[in-house]
Amino acid sequence: MNYRHAFHAGNHADVFKHLTLTRLIALMSRKEQPFAYLDTHAGIGLYDLQGDQANRTGEYLEGIARLWNDATLPALTADYMRVLHDMNPDGQLRYYPGSPELARRLTRERERVLLNEKHPEDGRLLKDNMKGDRRVAVHLGEGWHVPRALLPVAEKRALMLIDPPFEQLDEMQRCAHALKDAIGRMRQTVAAIWYPVKDQRALKRFYQDLAGTGAPKLLRVELLVHPLDTPQSLNGSGLAIANPPWGLEEELRELLPWLAQKLGQTQGDWRMDWLIAEQ
Ligand SMILES: C[S@@+](CC[C@H](N)C(=O)[O-])C[C@H]1O[C@@H](n2cnc3c(N)ncnc32)[C@H](O)[C@@H]1O
Repeated sequence: MNYRHAFHAGNHADVFKHLTLTRLIALMSRKEQPFAYLDTHAGIGLYDLQGDQANRTGEYLEGIARLWNDATLPALTADYMRVLHDMNPDGQLRYYPGSPELARRLTRERERVLLNEKHPEDGRLLKDNMKGDRRVAVHLGEGWHVPRALLPVAEKRALMLIDPPFEQLDEMQRCAHALKDAIGRMRQTVAAIWYPVKDQRALKRFYQDLAGTGAPKLLRVELLVHPLDTPQSLNGSGLAIANPPWGLEEELRELLPWLAQKLGQTQGDWRMDWLIAEQ
C-alpha cells in the first residue's frame, strides 16, 4: 500500500468528488429520516495543503485553488465552500477536508459517520482527526468488506462512498463487486464509486461490470480536464452513483459545465448518462 492521498488532496478529482458528495448529503437531508454515511476507503480526513506531501505535487493549485477566490461561484457550491471557509477562517487556503470531514460537518446530529481506512499510519491520523466526535466511528480494516460488514444499517438509509486508490489492477472489478454486495444487502443504498478516467479499455470493462450489478438505477458522471486520448495522464475522473437522490441529475447538469470550464487544463469537458436506467 504505497498510495497516500495527501499528495493529491484538493486536486480536480477531489473537487469533483467532494462537491458531488456535498450535494448528495444535502439532497438526502431533505427527508427527515436519518441516514448512515459509510466511507470504505476514507483516507486521513483532513489535509494540510502547505504540508510537504501536498506541496511536492502542487496538484491542489489546479483544483481547489482555482475556486478559492472566485467571486462568481454557483449557489450549489455553498455547502462545500462553507466547510472550506470554516476550516480556513483567516482567508488563506491551507486546510482541505477529505470525505470524512465533509461528511462529519454536513450530516445532522442524529446521523452516524462510519469510516474505514486500511493503511495503519493513515488510519491512526484519521482517528486523531476525528477524535471527540461521538457520531463518528473509525474502523481500521479491509475496505472491500465494508458493505457486508455494515449493511443493512438500522437507519434503513445509507450513503456509501467507495474511493480506493486504484493502485491494483483488480480494483475496478472490486468496486463493482462491492456495489453488488451493497445492493444485495440493502437495495436502496445510495453508493458513489469514484474512478480515474485514464485507460479506455479498462473503463469499457468497468462500465459493463457496473451495468451488471443489479443496482436499481446507476448514474455515470465524468469530469475531464484533458482530451480522452491524452496518453499516460489522468484525463479526468468519474463517479458511478447508484440510487442517486431525486434532483441530483439536474444539479449536476447545472454544475458540470461550470466545473469543466473552471478545472479544465488542456481541455475541460464533462458527460453524464445512465448506466442503469430506472425500470
Ligand atoms: C483515494 S484515498 C481516499 C480519499 C478519501 N475518500 C477522500 O475523499 O478524502 C484512498 C484510501 O484508501 C486506502 N486504502 C487502500 N487500500 C485499502 C483497502 N483495501 N481498504 C481500505 N482502505 C484502503 C488508502 O490508504 C487511501 O487512504
